[in-house]
Amino acid sequence: MFQPVIVVLMLVSFTCGENPAVQVTLTNKGLQYGKHVGAGWIQEKLDLVTLPDISGTILKFIHYTFSGVTITKCDFPEPSVEFYQDITGFNTSISGLSVAVIGRWMTRVGLIHDGGSFNMAIFNMDVTSVVKLGKDADGHLSVTSARCEAHVANVDVRFQGGASRWFQPFVEHFKGRIKGEIEASICPGVEKYIVDLEHYLQAMKVSFDVGENVTFDLPLTGMPVINASSLNLGLKGEFYDMKSHTEPPFKAKPFTVPEQPGYMLSVGLSEFTLNSASYVAYEAHRLQAVINESMIPPYLHMHLNTSWMGPYIPQLPKMFPGLLMNLQVYARAVPIFSFQPGVVKLGFQGAVKALAIQPNGTQTPLFKLNVDSTNSGKVWIDGGRLKGSVRLDNFTVTLESSEVGSFQTDPLEHLMKAGMTLVIAKLNVELGTGVLLPRMKHVQLVNTVLGMEEGFIAISSDAELFETDRGFN
Ligand SMILES: *[C@@H]1O[C@H](CO)[C@@H](O)[C@H](O)[C@H]1NC(C)=O
Ligand SMILES: *[C@@H]1O[C@H](CO)[C@@H](O)[C@H](O)[C@H]1NC(C)=O
Ligand SMILES: *[C@@H]1O[C@H](CO)[C@@H](O)[C@H](O)[C@H]1NC(C)=O
Ligand SMILES: *[C@@H]1O[C@H](CO)[C@@H](O)[C@H](O)[C@H]1NC(C)=O
Ligand SMILES: *[C@@H]1O[C@H](CO)[C@@H](O)[C@H](O)[C@H]1NC(C)=O
Ligand SMILES: *[C@@H]1O[C@H](CO)[C@@H](O)[C@H](O)[C@H]1NC(C)=O
Ligand SMILES: *[C@@H]1O[C@H](CO)[C@@H](O)[C@H](O)[C@H]1NC(C)=O
Repeated sequence: MFQPVIVVLMLVSFTCGENPAVQVTLTNKGLQYGKHVGAGWIQEKLDLVTLPDISGTILKFIHYTFSGVTITKCDFPEPSVEFYQDITGFNTSISGLSVAVIGRWMTRVGLIHDGGSFNMAIFNMDVTSVVKLGKDADGHLSVTSARCEAHVANVDVRFQGGASRWFQPFVEHFKGRIKGEIEASICPGVEKYIVDLEHYLQAMKVSFDVGENVTFDLPLTGMPVINASSLNLGLKGEFYDMKSHTEPPFKAKPFTVPEQPGYMLSVGLSEFTLNSASYVAYEAHRLQAVINESMIPPYLHMHLNTSWMGPYIPQLPKMFPGLLMNLQVYARAVPIFSFQPGVVKLGFQGAVKALAIQPNGTQTPLFKLNVDSTNSGKVWIDGGRLKGSVRLDNFTVTLESSEVGSFQTDPLEHLMKAGMTLVIAKLNVELGTGVLLPRMKHVQLVNTVLGMEEGFIAISSDAELFETDRGFN
């Protein structure tokens, strides 16, 4: 009786799986660029390729081997690659590929050996490979060969040396056979390449250590999504404490990165990623600091001692004359980032505990303030650098508890707000200079633009690939 309900619940739990906090979209422009670069690499590598030996038997008693087969010339037309929605993959094809090779031939008939060299031309090969994308249990992208077809229009072989003068006339007769052998060897080669690629993808990390106790998890959250114009990957994008691995009390919300066909790729980053980092830092008690006199920047013209605080808390220098002070600053709640069109907001609920340092080193609690602020920031990309600015929107100070009797917090609020404003002004100088966009070993982002949307940041970019020495094996 409950079975239909269970089935519905299972369906719901599958379809409403976790939302990705990071989304990567490859557009057709990116696919075509990748193909173009890849084809160039293959063309260069082909000049160095020595093909495997081909052996066989003709007329049941003539054993032959072609060895040292080397490509001397190759007409490598631009392949075509398309997104293939029906199977969630790619359709790659190359047509009109012609290759000239040289090599050595050997025959054996009973005890009689013969040999020489040969030239062969393979005309108008067509190869189509359909590759299916998926996701394995650990969240790696997977590739499998769904279909491969190879067709050779014609071959021409010229033998030299040995008894070739006698059998060259018969070559015409065995051409179909040689053509078939070549056709039969192409798809296993293509499939081996796809298997190597799959091994490479399986070995890729989906979790990255960030510092000592934190990991950044980036497995796929669902199957890749492909349509005629793009490939979309949804990735987890969550920071975790390595030991506790606890989930924060909030979840990633779904979002849709608008398609940008003019750029090769787009990345959407949810506010959830930042908030998961914030949660980890808060839970590990890392959002706290002790501030003492020597840490106050000189430009603030403040002193952390009981006399200097006199104008704000008149009773303080009377009760504790001439003592240095410490401030323990900490977050009272997880600071939450919220991305909105054009701006990122940060709400911070903090507390400041003031202590007097006695001559014998004992720290005497004085009072505790609650400090709540909202900040807004902007981030943009300019000249290949990531830049930003921050603003203090709201800043309130309230007295939470006091060991020195009550006092007005307004003057302190003004003082702290002025201090914050100065610190933020200094920070904005740094943020205005920005940091260079990260440049990976084999990829550089160019023409990068960044936009803040409701709940996520969208980054669209073109890329430049550089040749790597290491392949997939
Ligand atoms: C794959 O691409 C080739 C060339 O564009 C095309 O002829 C073929 O029909 C395509 N196959 C599929 C299954 O889309
Ligand atoms: C990592 O955790 C250990 C044990 O909890 C702690 O002692 C250490 O300070 C932490 N490291 C960082 C960088 O927070
Ligand atoms: C492909 O999917 C994207 C969203 O992932 C959408 O914006 C786009 O319009 C789709 N394109 C086609 C041709 O269906
Ligand atoms: C302030 O704290 C720092 C680091 O904790 C310490 O090196 C310094 O001596 C302290 N200064 C004072 C005046 O207590
Ligand atoms: C406290 O600050 C005042 C400046 O307001 C300074 O003149 C005085 O020397 C400081 N006292 C101590 C104990 O550091
Ligand atoms: C340190 O000095 C304070 C104030 O003079 C006193 O109350 C406290 O007992 C002293 N502590 C120690 C450990 O001597
Ligand atoms: C600033 O905070 C106060 C107290 O929390 C609140 O009443 C006020 O609406 C806030 N103002 C803005 C602009 O957020």
